[in-house]
Amino acid sequence: MRGMMLAGGAGTRLFPISQVASKQLQPVYDKPMIYYPLATLMSAGIREIQLISTSADLPIFERVLGDGRQWGIDLSYSVQPSPGGIAQAVLIGESFVQDQPFALVLGDNIFHGPIGLEDEVSTFEGGAVIWGYPVSDPQRYGVIEIDDSGSVLSIEEKPADPRSEFAVPGLYLYDGTAVSRAKELVPSDRGELEITDLNLSFLQDGELRAVRLGRDATWLDSGTHESLLESSNFVASVEKEFGYKVACLEEVAYKMGFVSVEEVARTVESMPSSPYRAYCERAILG
Ligand code: TTP
Repeated sequence: MRGMMLAGGAGTRLFPISQVASKQLQPVYDKPMIYYPLATLMSAGIREIQLISTSADLPIFERVLGDGRQWGIDLSYSVQPSPGGIAQAVLIGESFVQDQPFALVLGDNIFHGPIGLEDEVSTFEGGAVIWGYPVSDPQRYGVIEIDDSGSVLSIEEKPADPRSEFAVPGLYLYDGTAVSRAKELVPSDRGELEITDLNLSFLQDGELRAVRLGRDATWLDSGTHESLLESSNFVASVEKEFGYKVACLEEVAYKMGFVSVEEVARTVESMPSSPYRAYCERAILG
């Protein structure tokens, strides 16, 4: 399965720091934010990945991530000329997905712990799969009702009176029909092609399932100053407490069998002396 990472958007809530670089290039503790969703896709065995961002920011992403060879993946890039909505990514990625199933992850979403993506990818048979994460303030999110078999019964965007505690994180699996469905969408009042409308299209056909996340999984979105700080604090505390790095791409690539130890050694050789390099040497090269 292929993967798409959406890293455009205006980042208005992060002004003025989003003037320095796009939101998804901001640091989350010790790595650029985009490392985390990239690690999420890679950990599910996804190796062909397209990143979508603005024309101003794409060259920086390309400089930071390159063509992915160092992690045994194939990274390509595509421009979203203006923030026309998350569902617009599906249209931009049309030639990349080529009617095949794909995963879409938002570049400011951080997942940690068991989220079941690898299982969903390997058993995916069609339709769409989304996730449901229990939150204490569902009014702020897209909210889904899920039955015991995992079928989605309803989706509501920022409901005043939520029917469940399950918010929808920025991670979606779609079959090839997503492109033609996205072509049918009309922009919302805020002028965007809404991902909720795309999900509703699958729901109407009875083809939307959700994976219920447990309390042992963590989902963070890093779109505000508070949540960005929370994400950094979360990663810092996990790394300090357990002594491993979250979203070390060299380690993920090695564990997934995408690269050999010799290839990691070559990548590490080109890194400046830093705690990140020291970690790679210790954790992978022994
Ligand atoms: P949002 O956080 O909803 O939007 P934003 O990034 O523009 O931020 P703000 O609301 O502060 O202006 O976007 C969620 C994710 O989707 C984020 O990673 C950016 C991405 N995105 C795009 O790439 N293109 C788009 O058109 C939109 C709306 C979002």
